[in-house]
Amino acid sequence: MKLTLTEDGPYIVEGDFRLLDTKKKLVQTGETAELCRCGKSGTSPLCDRESCDTQFGADGDGAPPQWRRYKGTNIDVSYSARICIHDGACTFGAPEVFDPRKRPWADPKESDAEGIAAVVRRCPSGALIYDRLDGGPQEQPEQPGTIRATRDGPFYLSGEIEIETATGQELFQGPRASLCRCGASRNKPFCDENHNMVQFKDP
Ligand code: SF4
Ligand code: FES
Repeated sequence: MKLTLTEDGPYIVEGDFRLLDTKKKLVQTGETAELCRCGKSGTSPLCDRESCDTQFGADGDGAPPQWRRYKGTNIDVSYSARICIHDGACTFGAPEVFDPRKRPWADPKESDAEGIAAVVRRCPSGALIYDRLDGGPQEQPEQPGTIRATRDGPFYLSGEIEIETATGQELFQGPRASLCRCGASRNKPFCDENHNMVQFKDP
């Protein structure tokens, strides 16, 4: 599925996807939808094109995430700090591999590749991805893709995700992403957890 950012307006989604609300109820299936990202829509998670806060400051869109690769024996793991939402699925799921108190904080050398891959696939932001070196399966993006509005928080996306800026620049490709829908992220379009600071509540 492809998301196109609009300047101070909704995400436009195209492709094969399912949109779920905060109660995991199906709102609609593809092929196109406009999703609220200012946090004000009366028809959230869909944009109502009426309540838009046209000054919510989505002019910072455009810097692609940077990646750092951590080499292992049977699997390499790559991490982008810029899009991590620090939910702890990695440190909780594989503390022997992901430990922020150590340097490097990710060390996939000694552990089993399938176990690490399973933990990485639970990373909701897409800040972790992997590359199997042992002939094991690479991550298969979910088909059709899923977009789920989380309660008082971001959209979680999974699938074959492509994000393009309002000016047509490719911003992101990956199997998972966590995108701001409160309008307050300082790292738009990605969630940076600022919804907690602004005490975002679903409209
Ligand atoms: S978002 Fe991903 S990388 Fe960040 S803490 Fe959660 S699981 Fe780990
Ligand atoms: S939803 Fe906006 S910062 Fe997380």
